[in-house]
Amino acid sequence: MNLIITGGCGHIGSYIAENIYKIKKIKKTFIVDNLKSNRFNSLFNQKKKNNLYFHMLDLNNQNSLDKFKNVKYVIHCASMTNAEKSFERKKEMYRNNLNCLKTVIKFCKKKQAKLIHLSSTSVYGKQAKIVDETCEKKFLKPQSPYAHIKILEENMLRRDTKYLSFNTFRLGTITGVSPGIRFHTAVNKFCFNASINKNVEVYKTALDQFRPYLSLKDTFKVFEFCIRNNFYKNDIFNILSGNFTVRQILNKINKRKKIKIKLVKSAIMNQLSYHVSKKKIQSHGLILNSNISKDINDTLNLLKNL
Ligand SMILES: NC(=O)c1ccc[n+]([C@@H]2O[C@H](COP(=O)([O-])OP(=O)(O)OC[C@H]3O[C@@H](n4cnc5c(N)ncnc54)[C@H](O)[C@@H]3O)[C@@H](O)[C@H]2O)c1
Repeated sequence: MNLIITGGCGHIGSYIAENIYKIKKIKKTFIVDNLKSNRFNSLFNQKKKNNLYFHMLDLNNQNSLDKFKNVKYVIHCASMTNAEKSFERKKEMYRNNLNCLKTVIKFCKKKQAKLIHLSSTSVYGKQAKIVDETCEKKFLKPQSPYAHIKILEENMLRRDTKYLSFNTFRLGTITGVSPGIRFHTAVNKFCFNASINKNVEVYKTALDQFRPYLSLKDTFKVFEFCIRNNFYKNDIFNILSGNFTVRQILNKINKRKKIKIKLVKSAIMNQLSYHVSKKKIQSHGLILNSNISKDINDTLNLLKNL
């Protein structure tokens, strides 16, 4: 059985591609990416045992996936993803990300391929206590165009459940190293700045706010679980390894590398602290508890000789 990873050159997609040999059911994996993110490096030195095929395609073209045959699974990672930059590139991001999902839905319906769609825990925005998937619409307060688009995507799938098997996973902020690692995200940005002795910029008010984080190892575990157990529920699940404050994350980095903190303002800093619950996915027997500190060490190791 074959798999398509859209956005397969990105941070998450490249990790799946690197580890796909662990899922024996998958015979061929097609990596689809338009390389707008320029991550050619994700394609270097691939292992034969992964049986990867790269196709440079833009999912804005609704017919771009038509040629693929015998595809049973799609993991949809293609997206413009820089939340902070999403304020200035709003129009482009709406168009690109919604078009990508439309193309993927069309393909999955036609070929009866099972879909994993990636949303984000940033849809919860302003929340005070613990939030779970049952949280009412009015409490979904996305604080950036990026997060708002995720809600539109979720709704698009919710309306389309009839001829589709899918899961929407609301992922926490990713930690860990992959061939296509990116450094827009909190932990990686902190690790990078610490490594080059630059100030680590933290949004004022954010230091003691809890946020959900997710190890790449747990992310892969979730995808593996779906494919192995044919777990497709046409539903939404929070996916995270744990909730931590920024201070806790910085302390983990500080153990390895001394950091200087500078408090800054940001367009998306007015969020309150929130814990995200992972009970729903765990109730299906999937336990997610990978060690974020190990991921931080791996990221710092990439840069240790600078
Ligand atoms: N990394 C995180 O912390 C995180 C957290 C929550 C959710 N997510 C979600 O997971 C998914 C994958 O995230 P990521 O970190 O791997 O992102 P990424 O930016 O590293 O990779 C996305 C890839 O998609 C490709 N792409 C974008 N538009 C495309 C198009 N029109 N056609 C073909 N390819 C296109 C890009 O070139 C890039 O390689 C995204 O939906 C993201 O919103 C990521």
